[in-house]
Amino acid sequence: MTTQRPRMTSDRLRSRDWFDNPEHPGTTALCIERYMNYGMTLEELTSGRPIIGIAQSGSDLTPCNRHHVELVKRVKEGIRAAGGVPFEFPLHPIHENVRRPTAALDRNLAYLGLVEVLHGYPLDGVVLTTGCDKTTPACLMAAATVNIPAIVLSGGPMLNGWHGVERVGSGTIVWEMRKRLAAGDIDYPEFLSRIAESAPSVGHCNTMGTASTMNSMAEALGMSLPGSAMIPGPYKERAMVAYQTGERVVDMVWEDLRPSDILTREAFENAIVTCSALGGSSNAPIHVNAIARHAGVALDNDDWQRLGHAVPLLANVMPAGAYLGEEFHRAGGVPAIIAELLANGLIHGDVMTVNGRCLADNVAGRESRDPEVIRRFDNPLVEKAGFLNLKGNLFDSALMKTSVIAADFRERFLSDPDDPDAFEGKVVVFDGSEDYHARIDDPELDIDATTILVMRGAGPVGHPGGAEVVNMQPPAALIRQGIESLPCLGDGRQSGTSGSPSILNASPEAATGGPLALLETGDRLRVDLRRCEVTLRVDDTELAARRSRLEAAGGYDYPAHQTPWQEIQRTLVEPLADGMTLRGAPDYRDVARQ
Ligand code: FES
Ligand code: MG
Repeated sequence: MTTQRPRMTSDRLRSRDWFDNPEHPGTTALCIERYMNYGMTLEELTSGRPIIGIAQSGSDLTPCNRHHVELVKRVKEGIRAAGGVPFEFPLHPIHENVRRPTAALDRNLAYLGLVEVLHGYPLDGVVLTTGCDKTTPACLMAAATVNIPAIVLSGGPMLNGWHGVERVGSGTIVWEMRKRLAAGDIDYPEFLSRIAESAPSVGHCNTMGTASTMNSMAEALGMSLPGSAMIPGPYKERAMVAYQTGERVVDMVWEDLRPSDILTREAFENAIVTCSALGGSSNAPIHVNAIARHAGVALDNDDWQRLGHAVPLLANVMPAGAYLGEEFHRAGGVPAIIAELLANGLIHGDVMTVNGRCLADNVAGRESRDPEVIRRFDNPLVEKAGFLNLKGNLFDSALMKTSVIAADFRERFLSDPDDPDAFEGKVVVFDGSEDYHARIDDPELDIDATTILVMRGAGPVGHPGGAEVVNMQPPAALIRQGIESLPCLGDGRQSGTSGSPSILNASPEAATGGPLALLETGDRLRVDLRRCEVTLRVDDTELAARRSRLEAAGGYDYPAHQTPWQEIQRTLVEPLADGMTLRGAPDYRDVARQ
């Protein structure tokens, strides 16, 4: 399989505009002399060898990606061996657990920065080093916009975490231990040490959180070498694939193989199907929809339900399953999942990938080496594992990750024999996570086992970037009674490592005037999973009166901007359902040619 375009020749390389442009001898000389000041030779810069950028996402501030500082040495050796010249440069740091108010605020910032670098510097191709959650979508969004040959190198997950012989999964353990701490079963030092056990080595989260999901999405989209997404960070194969990635990107330049050849409608459909089979993060629809928009492919949450909901859960990996990244990799990783889906007619096999071969060729002969960890299609962990796209009079779109609905939750909320897919309850509304933490244990709220917890003011405008706070734990008193989860709903996001079946990413958000802003504690909500409907049981006259009062008060209140970027992003950001992209940015495509 090849692209339609003729092979690139040295004289047509993009970098020649900078390093060999007789019409502008002065600017050409200035480009050359300054790169020579640290030892580059004239030959490297002017002989027509592809100049390859390496977007370095690792730094001391980004521990999940920090080992890329070492890995890129192998990338550079691969680039050199294939005849290219590597130029490493920094990506704006995005580290999930530390960045305040949220790392999601920086996805679009890193995207913008990378677009400017790829557009404005003499690069013929780029290696995108990824890992922690938002580094992958930021890189892929920029690659789609600029459209120079681009390949993703994931840093891979950490090794498995252990507590004795029990697996400890990153993120997922935090949600469990917070309940134990709230219930008084453990103290704070034990809480800390239990959580630290989940991070035994370099690498990103070892669960199927947003990082593992998005790197698997990059592979399913065809943007990284087959089998590379989930090689654990410390494994020798990780350094080997770094070398091969460097080698390969140089050939991609000669083949003029660009993101637009790979990021097609069919590729995105493959990503959706693969995500469901992985039990992937509820952040994936946001990021994959965003990448699609930048690639000029229309994709929305209806596509996620239509193509993804019926797909069975094959990956037995936390939070939906029991194992972690190491077992998943050994069992065959993403290629084994795709091969199983392909054999069952759910994957477009004839799509192009970065190695110049089609996806079906890449997974030929690959199958699960451990059917306990990567299940067969006819023996899945969960039958219908994809997202439902819920609608109603409170929002136009909100997602529910059905692969994580636990048995006890089903029993308490979805077991009415006359209406097994629906439940109704009284809501308790919180405005942002501080409000939740301040009031959740207040007995006056009268939260019981049938209450629906609602979080608003947590979308990308209400909380710049959108907060991962919708998966709220019940009051400590209920946890002590054995009620470990309540239905949650909100206009924010939820961590990909959480096993909560929340209704999240509700768009439009309260802060932009969405009807969620009209909700009051004590209102009743009906959730119908068969009809994919959430209905607020309040009549229209009352809602209109609430709307007038809200408008008279100046609209839904949210905290002031703290930085210039928060203000810019809030002005331009689109709803979570639309990928949280910046208004107007997806109109820019193929900018490397301009
Ligand atoms: Fe970085 Fe999970 S916190 S990957
Ligand atoms: Mg997260």
